[in-house]
Amino acid sequence: MCGIVGFIGNNCEQNLIDALYKLEYRGYDSAGISVIKDGKIDTIKTAGEIKNLDEMLTTRNSNTAGIAHTRWATHGASNVFNAHPHNSCNNKISIVHNGIIENYIELKQDLIKKGVVFYSETDSEVIPNLIYKSNNKSFIKKFISACNLLNGSYAIACLNSTEKKLYLAKNKSPLYISKLNTGEMMCASDIICFESKAVDYYTLEDGEFAVISKDNIRFYNSSFKIIKKQSSKLGKFDFSFELGNFSHYMEKEICEIPKCIDNLARIYSSKNLTEILINLNINSFNKIKIIGCGTAYHASCMGEKLLQDVLKVDVSSFVASEFRYSKQLIDNSTLCIFVSQSGETADTLEALKLAIELGATTLVITNTMHSTMAKLAHVVLPTCAGVEKSVASTKAYVCQICVFYILKRCFDSQINKKCFDFYENLENLSVLLKNQKYDYLDSFVKLLSDENELYFIGRDKDLISSNEACLKLKEVTYINANAYPAGELKHGFLALINQSSYMFVIATEHHLLEKTLNALKEASSRGANIILVTQFKNEASSMCENVKFIYLPCFDEDLMSIVSIIPFQFLSYKLSVSKNINPDKPRNLAKSVTVE
Ligand code: G6P
Repeated sequence: MCGIVGFIGNNCEQNLIDALYKLEYRGYDSAGISVIKDGKIDTIKTAGEIKNLDEMLTTRNSNTAGIAHTRWATHGASNVFNAHPHNSCNNKISIVHNGIIENYIELKQDLIKKGVVFYSETDSEVIPNLIYKSNNKSFIKKFISACNLLNGSYAIACLNSTEKKLYLAKNKSPLYISKLNTGEMMCASDIICFESKAVDYYTLEDGEFAVISKDNIRFYNSSFKIIKKQSSKLGKFDFSFELGNFSHYMEKEICEIPKCIDNLARIYSSKNLTEILINLNINSFNKIKIIGCGTAYHASCMGEKLLQDVLKVDVSSFVASEFRYSKQLIDNSTLCIFVSQSGETADTLEALKLAIELGATTLVITNTMHSTMAKLAHVVLPTCAGVEKSVASTKAYVCQICVFYILKRCFDSQINKKCFDFYENLENLSVLLKNQKYDYLDSFVKLLSDENELYFIGRDKDLISSNEACLKLKEVTYINANAYPAGELKHGFLALINQSSYMFVIATEHHLLEKTLNALKEASSRGANIILVTQFKNEASSMCENVKFIYLPCFDEDLMSIVSIIPFQFLSYKLSVSKNINPDKPRNLAKSVTVE
């Protein structure tokens, strides 16, 4: 994973630090910076968050070339030795790297034989030393031939002490370049670094290289030939990156949900998107596969339930890393739907490439329209949630479900010759959610703050919501929360239950209420402390004793999974804060997982 940035121009150090903060969602285990100063490489790095590096900087306004990095540790612990940039052992070449070099052990052994000394446990440190030991004459040839030896994934920005230039390489990990409005040059893992600073940017593709100087960008292929590239326009970024009056991005992003749904409903009513949807002829597919990771996988499961409701063909959902490595029966009558907030998650991206290779029609549901997935897929549907910064996905998840709801209505209209209509329901949902208050959760925070384990049960869509609620709790509170199908209780799980167990039961589907309440009673009679989450207030309260309730407002059953998940997003957030955890940056995690 990791975020990398390079800059040539005024206030180099400050520009690099500002950009690093924007890339922090890619990892925050350590950070570092290298700039050229008086013909030498000057490197400062530290373990921990970018603010630690920020505090260490003494110079911020050099007119020079520099590179910087924020790390999510893969090879080697998160300490200062493994922090990037990594320099060649003669200290004349410095690199930042995002990705994994799979053949680094053999490369390292070879370099050690040639006298190279290594100072870190990382795979990345081979890169500057391969360049250093290259026999080629020009630096660009040294750089390209060294990168040609690498297997794996990489976005690399490289400095050498004798030139005010940046050398870039890319394979699988994203890398963008822009000449800023002020005339300065910048490259970065994400175009958000160019936000409000540029009008257009270049996307480096796999196997391409670039050399950036003070006023020129030159592109090369792997055979050292100069190539021409077209720039893309930098679109407008939705919603501000600022926290405003909120304490954390997670809180801000949950509070933005009603506005996001409203926005999404409007955007999907536009001619452009309606046409895209109508052209997606469901009758041309004989099966649908939905693929994602983490929260996006839970949205995929929810998509499966919603679509299977109206479709006569088989719909199934997969975790991307499993999808890639199991036998898939895919042909040109298969529709593969990929769900990804970032559009860059490595396993989902590789699964998308596999589906394209096997001839499927591919559709990506993403929050990042400039992402690699959005570029590769046949059809792209935006989630319109605006930038999501907190590691735990909240508003993007809700918007992913809304897109599946719209798809369901679209396919339903095609199959049953009905009118295609979703706007009113989403608008009403937005209004309903705007009026909800969540203060009652404070009493649950008190009740649960010392718990190390929490249990959830549910059926059908409520089981998926239970899984997503558990994921939120694990991510930001470190409580071991686990969900089970309500019907599976007696097949092992009941053995875990005793009088100190807390169990949430989510029951929002009326036809399953009675059955779920039976399971609730089985757990309750073994002493479990039950919290029932439902909109069926009257029926449930008459059937259950000694149970705490979270009452939900009633809404269309297709969208109840949105109504029921928000209390758990807030509960996770509040519990996280009560435990003095920063919910935006939970330990060991990152927002965008760009390594497999
Ligand atoms: C990471 C994030 C999750 C996210 C998952 C998939 O694990 O921490 O919040 O759901 O990646 O990311 P994607 O960008 O593909 O939705």
